[in-house]
Amino acid sequence: AEQPLILGIETSCDETGVGLVRGTTLLANAVASSVDEHVRFGGVVPEVASRAHLQAIVPTLERALTEAEVTLDDVDAIAVTAGPGLAGALMVGVSAAKSLALALDKPLYGVNHLVGHVAAEQLENGPLTEPVVALLVSGGHTEILHVTEIATAAEMLGQTLDDAAGEAFDKVARLIGLKYPGGPHIQRAAAEGDPAAIRFPRGLTSQRDMSRHRYDFSFSGLKTAVARWVETAEREGRTVPVPDVAAAFQEAVADVLTHKAVLACTERGVRTMVLAGGVAANARIRDLTRERCAAAGIELRQPRLSLCTDNGAMIAALGAAVVEHGLPPSSLDFATDSSL
Ligand code: KG4
Ligand code: ZN
Repeated sequence: AEQPLILGIETSCDETGVGLVRGTTLLANAVASSVDEHVRFGGVVPEVASRAHLQAIVPTLERALTEAEVTLDDVDAIAVTAGPGLAGALMVGVSAAKSLALALDKPLYGVNHLVGHVAAEQLENGPLTEPVVALLVSGGHTEILHVTEIATAAEMLGQTLDDAAGEAFDKVARLIGLKYPGGPHIQRAAAEGDPAAIRFPRGLTSQRDMSRHRYDFSFSGLKTAVARWVETAEREGRTVPVPDVAAAFQEAVADVLTHKAVLACTERGVRTMVLAGGVAANARIRDLTRERCAAAGIELRQPRLSLCTDNGAMIAALGAAVVEHGLPPSSLDFATDSSL
């Protein structure tokens, strides 16, 4: 028999995503982004994001149905991001999902956004063999997850104590006169620079920090170090070597992210790593992860960029795993949880 058709809805940050999936087969992945509306603010503005979700949710749903060549009547179950994310943004997706579940009389599953990033990988390269360690790096979050069962069991080993990795790229880009979102601009500038020209600090890697915050990250000290370096150069009347600063900053981020993720694998005896999130688009982060995983005998799995950034298909993929596992649906009065 054909596997159930799962509709996934994602509105935790600035992407409105609706996806359709059967098992680990991707049928549609429609995304509308409000990133352009946040450019002039230099970061995601929650109220602006919520309003954009409200405008985009139905058209994005219609695009997904068209792409998959199905109708709402074909949908067997609905999955939606319950958290973590921006409270007002989550509410738009959850309200839409509850309305659909009620109107279609289909089961609804509120799921975890972070685990959804891991489930998305299965749409690219087929079923994952757990356990896996996931390094999730985006503009909104930075975590290391230990997933022992995608549908039921994930533990957060560590997370950022301050800025997300993407946020650090965005803030440093601003400091050196590059545009938002900073990641792609820093990567482009860094290609012309020398990563060894400046040594920027690697947050939470001292022996003392490693005992208390082994898998956690901190990027605020790095951002401050870049700011101070730029200020000093300007005070002394030197032109700021933007490519070198970008390359040295990017190297510091890549080094600490990949070091801790590989460490989590080796210390937990995990042989598979999933790399996802918008920052996983970064070529240096990808290369260093691949290199260090290969050296440690870890298989690296990474979906294409459209499945790496926030999207509805990843939520549908997790919904499919939850349905297959026979877990009970969420009740229609469940709340969102910004810090799930
Ligand atoms: O997952 P994502 O698309 O969405 C949100 O988190 O909302 O991630 C966006 C983040 C931004 O901070 C952006 O600067 C960063 O990902 N980013 C990159 C690159 N492309 C996007 N960071 C580093 N290098 C890149 N090539
Ligand atoms: Zn995300």
